[in-house]
Amino acid sequence: MTDAPRTGYFISFEGIDGSGKSTQAQRLAAALERAGHHTLLTREPGGSPGAEEIRALVLEGAPERWSPETELLLFTAARRDHMERTIRPALAAGKVVICDRFADSTRMYQGLSRGDLRAMVDALHGLMIGQEPDLTILIDMTPDRGLERALARGGAEARFEGFGSELQARIRAGFLDLAREFPRRFVVIDGNRSIEAVSADVLATVKERLG
Ligand code: ADP
Ligand code: TYD
Repeated sequence: MTDAPRTGYFISFEGIDGSGKSTQAQRLAAALERAGHHTLLTREPGGSPGAEEIRALVLEGAPERWSPETELLLFTAARRDHMERTIRPALAAGKVVICDRFADSTRMYQGLSRGDLRAMVDALHGLMIGQEPDLTILIDMTPDRGLERALARGGAEARFEGFGSELQARIRAGFLDLAREFPRRFVVIDGNRSIEAVSADVLATVKERLG
C-alpha cells in the first residue's frame, strides 16, 4: 500500500475463540480514552462497511463452505478494505488503533489449520497489506475453556467454532510459536484469570509501550 505518514499506534489482540479478546479490547479502549488518548476500536473480519459484508460470507454457513485458499483471499480482501478506509486514516490522524484480530489470525486459521499455507499467507500479506501492528497482545487460554465460552455465545457466526476443539488446540500452540517468532511485537498474557486481572496486565503493557 502507498505510504501515508503514520503517527498513531497500532495494537492488535489475538487468541483463540472465546479467549476474551473483545472484552479486553473494549476495556483497553475505554481506559485509554479516560487517560486522554484518541482511540479507535475496530475488529476483523470487518471494521469497514465492505469488510463487514465479507464477514458474513466467511463466518456463516457450513465449515466446509470455503477452501482455506478461498478463505485467505476473502480475509485479505476484507483486510485491505479495512486498512484503506479505517485503520490507515486513523493512524494518520494520530490515534491509537485497537484491532480485535488482525493478520496473525490469518497466519493461524488459514495458514496452519488445514494444511501448511503459511508461505502463501505471508506472500499475500506482503503484496496487499504490508503492515504489522506495533504491539500484538496474545490472550493465551486453555482451548476447551475458550471453545465453551465461544459456543455459549450462540449466534450464526459459528463457522470456525464448528471445526472443533482440536483446531483450537492447534491454533493456540501456533499463536505461542508466533509470539516466539516475533518477540518484540508480541506480549503473551494469561487469559485463564478474572477479566479484571487480565485487563490490569493489558493496560500496564500498553502504558509502558506508549510511554
Ligand atoms: P473473544 O473475543 O476472544 O471471542 P470474548 O471477549 O467475546 O472473547 O469473551 C467470550 C465470553 O467469555 C464472553 O461471554 C465474555 O463475557 C466471557 N469472558 C471474557 N473474559 C473472561 C474472563 N477472564 N473470565 C470469564 N469470562 C470471560
Ligand atoms: P471473531 O469474531 O474474532 O471470533 P471470536 O470472538 O470467536 O474469537 O472472529 C471470527 C472467526 O474468524 C474466528 O473463528 C477466527 C476467524 N478468522 C480467520 O479465520 N481468519 C482471519 O484472518 C480472521 C481475522 C479471523
